[in-house]
Formats: sequence, C-alpha cells, structure tokens
Amino acid sequence: MRVVVVGGGGREHALADVLGRHHEVVVTPGNPGIPGSVSDDPESIDADLYVIGPEAPLVDGLADRLRAADRSVFGPGADGARLEGSKAWMKEVVAAAGVPTARHLACTDRDQAVAFLESLDAPWVIKTDGLAAGKGVLVTDSLDRARAAVDEYLSGAAFGDAGRTLVVEEGLVGPELSVLAVCDGTRAVALAPAQDYKRVGDGDAGPNTGGMGAYSPVALADDEVVDDVVARFVQPTLDELRRRGIDYRGVLYAGLMFTADGPRLIEFNVRFGDPETQVVLPRLTTDLGELLAQAAAGRIEQRPGFGDDAQVTVVLAAEGYPSSPRTGDPITGIDEARSEPGVSVYCAGVADGPDGLVTSGGRVLDVCGRGADVAAARAAAYRGVARISWPGLHHRRDIAAG
Ligand code: AMP
Ligand code: GLY
Repeated sequence: MRVVVVGGGGREHALADVLGRHHEVVVTPGNPGIPGSVSDDPESIDADLYVIGPEAPLVDGLADRLRAADRSVFGPGADGARLEGSKAWMKEVVAAAGVPTARHLACTDRDQAVAFLESLDAPWVIKTDGLAAGKGVLVTDSLDRARAAVDEYLSGAAFGDAGRTLVVEEGLVGPELSVLAVCDGTRAVALAPAQDYKRVGDGDAGPNTGGMGAYSPVALADDEVVDDVVARFVQPTLDELRRRGIDYRGVLYAGLMFTADGPRLIEFNVRFGDPETQVVLPRLTTDLGELLAQAAAGRIEQRPGFGDDAQVTVVLAAEGYPSSPRTGDPITGIDEARSEPGVSVYCAGVADGPDGLVTSGGRVLDVCGRGADVAAARAAAYRGVARISWPGLHHRRDIAAG
C-alpha cells in the first residue's frame, strides 16, 4: 500500500517508521528529520490509506473531507473528534456510557466554578474545555491558585477561547496508564499499554507538558487489566458514540488513573498519543498498515501482536519548554546516538539550519531505547541521550526509573 501520514512530530515519525516496514509511506508536512516528508496538501496526494496524527486536523474535519472523496481514512470525523475537542462533551458521553471518571462541573460562570471547587478536597483540577496543546490542565494543592485559575481561564487570559468554558474536576491520585485502542466503528482492539510522564521535571515537578517520556510494557497493566479497560471504558464509549450516529474509525486513547477505588478515566484522546506511540508501535510484530486499513474499512479482522521486548523514549526539549521554547539552536549528535546499539531517534520539533538540523519547537527529539526489559531499554535510551546536545537542551532523568 501507499500510505499518507498527516502531521509532523515524533509521533508521525514513529508511525512512518513502523508503517514503512511493510508499505510505501509519505508524510505531510513531516519535518526535515522524517524521511519521505512532502509539503503537499493531503487531499492532493493519491494513496491507499490516510493516517491522521494530530487532533487539530481531526477536529477540523480532515477525515470527513477525505472520506467524502472516497478515500480510506484512519482517524475519526469531526463528530467523533469532539471527544477531545470538548472535554465537557466528552464527560457527557462517558457519563451516558457508564464509564467511571472523576466528578466534574463544566461551566462558564465564575461563582458556580468556585462553589464547586470549594466542595472538593485537594488536589484541585481545572481544565480548558477546548484544545490547548496538552497544556490546558492545572492540578494544584492550593485552593487560592485554583480560584485564581478560574478567573484566568474564563477571561481568556490563560488560553484564549479554549478556556472560556472550563471544567472543574475532582483530583485523582495514583499511577497513570495510557491505553490506545484501534476502533473500526463497532469494535475496539487495544495496543500494548504505555506509561507517559506529563510533568516537565524529575519527580513530577513543574507544569504539565505534552509528555516528556514514556515506556512500554507497564508492569501494573497485564493482559487482564488491558482487557478490563477495553471492556469497561473503551467499548462502552464506542457503543455510545454509535448510538449517537457516530461511526468512529480511529484511535480511542484512554488516559486512566489507577486510584485506590479502581481505575478512573481522566481523558479520551482521538489519536495516537505522543510520545506513547514512539514506545508502543515499534513493539508490534504484525503489520500496522493492514490493521489501520481494516479499521478504516470498518472491519478489524485480527488483533495486533506485540513482542516481549521493552521500549523507552526520552523527550529532549528546547530551552523554555513548555511555556516559551526557544528555536534555532543547532543540534549535534543524532547520528552518534543512532549508532548506539538499540537506540533510535525520532524527530519532532526540528528544522533545517545552515549546518544541519536546528530546534524549531518545544519537544525536539524522542530518543528511544529497545531492550529485553524496561531497565535495559532505559539504559539504551539514556546512552543515546548522552550523545546529543544543543544550547538549553533539557530532559527528564527519571523516565522508566520505576
Ligand atoms: P488531560 O489533558 O485531561 O489528560 O490532563 C493532563 C494531565 O493532568 C493528566 O495526564 C494528569 O496527569 C493530570 N490530570 C488531569 N485530570 C486529573 C484529575 N482529575 N486528577 C489528577 N490529575 C489529573
Ligand atoms: N502524551 C499525551 C498525549 O498524547 O496527549
């Protein structure tokens, strides 16, 4: 098959890499670090399958436009993508589906928001209703900070229109798990689970980011746990979407927290996770393109297979990420990192500079290590990390440290 991957980050590099084991792949817009990148409008490229990476084009209806032109597309239409585009709507759908999740209130009124905040115990959670590039969530142990955030969100000062409707949520405590399920409109099959690191600093210090690293497999999530997540979280949501007339063909990514009262849904994303994809897909032993094409056609025929190996990725970020990343710093050492055994490097926020690649975004590179177990994969990943540098580079040192 000829496959078009839409997007230009580390997730799309990983998708292209793994799809490329069996198929011809074009990535648009890609980036100068992803082989096969072209800057064409996806609707103008001829292909057998279109795989849409980021949430923004999904929410914007790219999958609908491609399907209207009789193309085979992996990724939900704008109707299903609302699950990620509006947290308030997501909460309504999962409540109807009976999915266990944090108590919440979606509102546009300050007094209502503050009254609900004050009825909850710490930690307090405030979210934008709309998309905010993974940064619209505040989790805090300070009620004053939470009250101040209500004003910053509702006024538009913090996140523009995305925060003018906000969601106040009960704070949950426990380890997190990402389960990405491939859906064909009716049926969902899970990929191997992963754990993501959302905070910018070691020991989960500092603000939330899009994700600073990940690993797979995850000890707390054996096959039984993953089957339970599909049965109680993903499949009921897919069924509820179907009841609402939504034919959801794409990834349903369940972000879960394992609390003392059992697993709870934190969020649904409508796409592959970034950086989870970089640790999940390389572990596939079956043909990814075949699976996604079957899902796009509305009929998944077989479950994906995964190897026993482990994969760890460490995100290398630019100075100033997540608030205001600096761009244009020259990157050195990518080839040296790739020459380390078990190491691969996916390119995210990079651009062409006078003497090679330079930084051009917050999350710049994903350095991945493969090994027989998580400890070996982690050691490989950090061997790769040690070879790469640019002014202001920062990364977490505790990814997959147990
Ligand atoms: P979200 O964008 O909804 O996935 O939230 C981003 C991150 O914020 C999650 O991965 C959690 O680490 C944290 N978070 C979100 N909601 C909650 C909650 N109800 N309780 C505790 N932490 C949360
Ligand atoms: N790593 C979290 C996400 O993709 O949203």
